[in-house]
Amino acid sequence: MRVLLTGGSGFIGSHIALLLLERGIDVVILDSFTNSSPNVINRINTYLDNKYLKYKLEIINGDIRDKKTLDKIFFDSIKAHKSIDIVIHLAGLKSVSESVVNPLLYWDVNVLGTLNLLLSMKEYECFSLVFSSSATIYGLSDLVPMAEDHNISPINPYGKTKVAIESMFYDLCNSNINLWKICSLRYFNPVGAHPSGLIGEDPIGIPNNLFPFLTQVAIGRQKTLKIFGDDWDTEDGSGIRDYIHIIDLAEGHLASIDYLNSIDSCLEFINLGSGKGYSVFQIINQFESSTGCQIPFSIESRRDGDVAKCYADISKAKTLLGWSPKRSLEEICLDGWNWQMKNPNGYS
Ligand code: NAD
Ligand code: UD1
Repeated sequence: MRVLLTGGSGFIGSHIALLLLERGIDVVILDSFTNSSPNVINRINTYLDNKYLKYKLEIINGDIRDKKTLDKIFFDSIKAHKSIDIVIHLAGLKSVSESVVNPLLYWDVNVLGTLNLLLSMKEYECFSLVFSSSATIYGLSDLVPMAEDHNISPINPYGKTKVAIESMFYDLCNSNINLWKICSLRYFNPVGAHPSGLIGEDPIGIPNNLFPFLTQVAIGRQKTLKIFGDDWDTEDGSGIRDYIHIIDLAEGHLASIDYLNSIDSCLEFINLGSGKGYSVFQIINQFESSTGCQIPFSIESRRDGDVAKCYADISKAKTLLGWSPKRSLEEICLDGWNWQMKNPNGYS
């Protein structure tokens, strides 16, 4: 099998690439490296070489907005009798705050980039797709746990682009109900790192999200963790989220591929989370007890656009994909810390 993995050099994509290659699946990564380092590819190669694995990894430095690049990938693959069987599409922009400041960039990259991809896939008759959607589409609700039929009401341009992409999938699949196979995976909060410590999350600039900020406080790159509110309607007053180990999330993609290979056509929207909610204080406590690090923190006012609680109902992923998350919060903390300690400055 041969998979085109867009955004394969990013945080989530690099972990999926590694799992696919370990499983003996050929991978073509298309990435513009706008939010990732080419060093990621060296790390993937190092890991697989150390395991004496034979694998086929091709890297294409290109932009999903450039249709010629996409067409060439499909054309060359067919010409070489190695056609692309499935696309896993992760390339895109993901900062909520940036999307508020520069919405057109987000519509351009996320929506038009995906449209280009779908056009190329149709032209070259590749009809299987796994897509990276987000729990952010559920908006400002804290009716938990959230199942896939939860109200869709994104409150920022980033979330709106994900909804627009899911709408494209609806229309496309309705236009020919027997042709396309699409799993749109709605991720909750992917965190942690590969246990080898070779690949992990390396945000550019100051991290927006809790987990990378916390590990950077632990390593001394940031001074104090700011807790955005201790007056939420939760047991300890801090916000509750669904943190899923990045390897569990990556395994969800392999399960999706197996599912797509087992059926004739589908359009499924599927939550990928741990199915459990943890508060900010619980995360800090777990991190401190697992790693022995102390995390200085201060209580700040609530962050705009936050909700008290957000965690997934993952029954659909369990039944349909036969997948369930296996790793604990302790493993998340240990693997995340291992990555941060081995790479205090990320990939640079
Ligand atoms: P990431 O930024 O680490 O990875 C995205 C990759 O896409 C990067 O390597 C970047 O260089 C590449 N890219 C960006 N624009 C591109 C373009 N125009 N053409 C080609 N490549 C391009 O982000 P991630 O955390 O790995 O997220 C991957 C996907 O999952 C994104 O679509 C994101 O919206 C979605 N998602 C992420 C999270 C999360 O918490 N990380 C949650 C929900 C959904
Ligand atoms: C954020 C985004 C969401 C996106 C998700 C994954 C916002 C408002 N939401 O969600 O759209 O899908 O990331 O990329 O940006 N926290 C702190 N201090 C920090 C950082 C976070 O207390 O420095 C708290 C937050 O208030 C929240 C929890 O930690 O309660 C988790 O925050 P975060 O990691 O940013 O994830 P989300 O809020 O789920």
